[in-house]
Amino acid sequence: MSPLNGDPPPPVAHRARLGARDLFPDLAWRVYANHAAISPPSLAVRAAVDAAMGDYAAHGVGAFGRWNAQRRRLKVLLASLMGRAPEDLALLPNTTSALSAVAMCFPWRAGDGVAVFEGEFPTNVTPWQRAAEAFDLRLVTLRVADLARPGGADLGPLAAALRGGLRLVAISAVQFQTGLVAPLREMADLCHAHGAEICVDAIQAVGVMPFDARDLDYVACGGHKWLMGLEGLGFLAVHPDRVAALRPRLAGWLSHESPIDFLFESDKLRYDKPIRARADFLEGGAPNTVGAAALEASVGLIAQIGVPAIFTHVTAWNDQLEAGLTARGFTSLRTPDAGRRSGILGVRPPAPWTVAGFAASLSRRGVACTTPDGVLRFAPHWPNALDEVPVVVDAVAECLRDPPA
Ligand SMILES: Cc1ncc(COP(=O)(O)O)c(C=O)c1O
Repeated sequence: MSPLNGDPPPPVAHRARLGARDLFPDLAWRVYANHAAISPPSLAVRAAVDAAMGDYAAHGVGAFGRWNAQRRRLKVLLASLMGRAPEDLALLPNTTSALSAVAMCFPWRAGDGVAVFEGEFPTNVTPWQRAAEAFDLRLVTLRVADLARPGGADLGPLAAALRGGLRLVAISAVQFQTGLVAPLREMADLCHAHGAEICVDAIQAVGVMPFDARDLDYVACGGHKWLMGLEGLGFLAVHPDRVAALRPRLAGWLSHESPIDFLFESDKLRYDKPIRARADFLEGGAPNTVGAAALEASVGLIAQIGVPAIFTHVTAWNDQLEAGLTARGFTSLRTPDAGRRSGILGVRPPAPWTVAGFAASLSRRGVACTTPDGVLRFAPHWPNALDEVPVVVDAVAECLRDPPA
């Protein structure tokens, strides 16, 4: 590889097969159903990381141009998962930094209302609390429970809050414990009809289920769950109609127009160049090259299979497990409405078992799942085979024969 510029190495050489974990040869668990937490890196991810490291090890700064081009390719891939354009994206470390970027750069006026939902993962609450304090906003708390109503979400409380005056509504695409899918299209329409904007934490949706970001003002997502990359790289998508209004309160040397020409020419060192009116002004400083290499590889595998096929597959996996668990006295927290289900299956074990005790028993039997907010959560992805489900059900039956002390 040439030490200067040149093309980035070609993306993914590995082949992903639905229900096959041959790209995860070191995975120690018998069943890894924990993709809503952290995905293990595939061989494709590991090879991409090695390639980036190898190039930098050999060429130092000479590798930069190649991996800069690779990040543009990554944005094309990520944008295609959501019906957006690559220039709508900023690559940022995680969901928190993406939401915080919106919270800090939104064109707030003192007294504006911002709505969050009780029951959400704290990632989608803390940045709005900080913004409320910094910009003197009214923080309105709505309830996720209203979205979970059997038969369909009750958007009445949201409509009432919007009538009371809101500038922005923050919601997750998928609830982290129950897997409930929010009615984003309806919520976006309602917000827009009242002159408000919607900001979505999409980390529990993108990569495993079809996700359409076209009507959404802001979409924040980390890359280490359903996108199957590494911790430390995610993105923010900003609707093209919203970029110009953002205040660049968070910006760095790479946020300006033509930010690097002073590195190559004299008399170009300036501090007054305009900040780019493009989402990537938020990237601001040196990028996470290894994370971007990893994410392109993992998303490349997802794209090979296709998100609709992955979603059909994980739905079948969860359907079978849910049936096996409810037959053994578990309570499923999954909505009965098939149109509002995601990749997550949340359940509670029968008394006297506790969720934590049950997860520990399953872990001893080689089954990885987690226990967020008092829920036993299963989260399979494309490498999970359907014939793993009887393995989990047998492990559950064994745990049930071994009552807690
Ligand atoms: C709904 C939701 N949002 C965000 C996160 C994580 O946020 P971050 O990417 O900032 O670590 C999680 C889980 O870790 C989550 O379940």
